[in-house]
Amino acid sequence: MGYFEGKKIIVTGASSGIGEATAKELIKNGAKVILVSRNQEKMSKSFNDFDSSKFAIYPFDLSNLSEIDSLINSIINNEGKIDILFNNAGIGSESYFEDTELDVFHEVMNLDYFSVVYITKSILRHMINNGSGQIVTNTSVAGLITSKGRTVYSSAKFALHGFFDSLRIEVEEKNIGITLIAPGKVITNFGFNKLDKDGNPFAHKNKRKPFGLSSKNAAKIILKAIKERKREVIISKWSDVAWLGVYIRKFFPKFYFYLAKRIDA
Ligand SMILES: NC(=O)c1ccc[n+]([C@@H]2O[C@H](COP(=O)([O-])OP(=O)(O)OC[C@H]3O[C@@H](n4cnc5c(N)ncnc54)[C@H](OP(=O)(O)O)[C@@H]3O)[C@@H](O)[C@H]2O)c1
Repeated sequence: MGYFEGKKIIVTGASSGIGEATAKELIKNGAKVILVSRNQEKMSKSFNDFDSSKFAIYPFDLSNLSEIDSLINSIINNEGKIDILFNNAGIGSESYFEDTELDVFHEVMNLDYFSVVYITKSILRHMINNGSGQIVTNTSVAGLITSKGRTVYSSAKFALHGFFDSLRIEVEEKNIGITLIAPGKVITNFGFNKLDKDGNPFAHKNKRKPFGLSSKNAAKIILKAIKERKREVIISKWSDVAWLGVYIRKFFPKFYFYLAKRIDA
């Protein structure tokens, strides 16, 4: 029997990009997936071809922090034991700090950091009571190294690494695995949706050319990391400087900052 066969897995941000592709790959591998994002119609259309017993849709705005506990309780009441949580929903941002409205920090931190903390808090008791579980979180290479214009986004993603590195040590003995997925560039709507200095989506102002792994390939790597209960994995195309940057930052920090000043990444 495959690792995912019969498992129930919550995937947030399942209406698009990495979350959507990972949810589909999980269904193909025998899991039942609980899909969470704001856009119900998009999720219904996208998963229409799958057997309806293999997924359930819970439309929800994760920035609504005070309602997260009720969301998770109703998922547990309706679906039963949850084996894996994939915290994937997130939004990017790009702007220089001196120009950035402080509200943008609140908006991004709310979704990219606090919603993950709240949802993890809510599911952890359930997993501890079950005697097992796995919490997987999509962070970013921008949570390990950073570059110009990333004060907002990297604050949230670095925070996730600190939070989960500490939590991992606390819950390891309770048979709860913590896996962090740090992607480099993946081709999705991320660049289109990221927020500018005023908190508006970049949309067509995003001039970066699509580059990186396909979301389908990213999903395959994510499934492998979950199955192997990895602590942390960087996923990127070999030609994406992101993964190399992590090692340069660690072993040659002076050189890293020399490069980072010159690279528009
Ligand atoms: N693409 C990359 O190059 C890249 C690199 C590193 C890390 N990541 C991380 O990967 C994750 C997924 O991003 P992606 O590239 O797949 O981008 P994407 O295509 O824009 O997908 C983002 C997903 O998050 C959901 N979402 C956004 N705001 C939400 C909210 N308030 N409540 C609930 N769901 C919300 C969106 O669904 P709705 O709009 O339907 O709510 C969508 O399903 C993010 O955490 C991102 O930081 C991406």
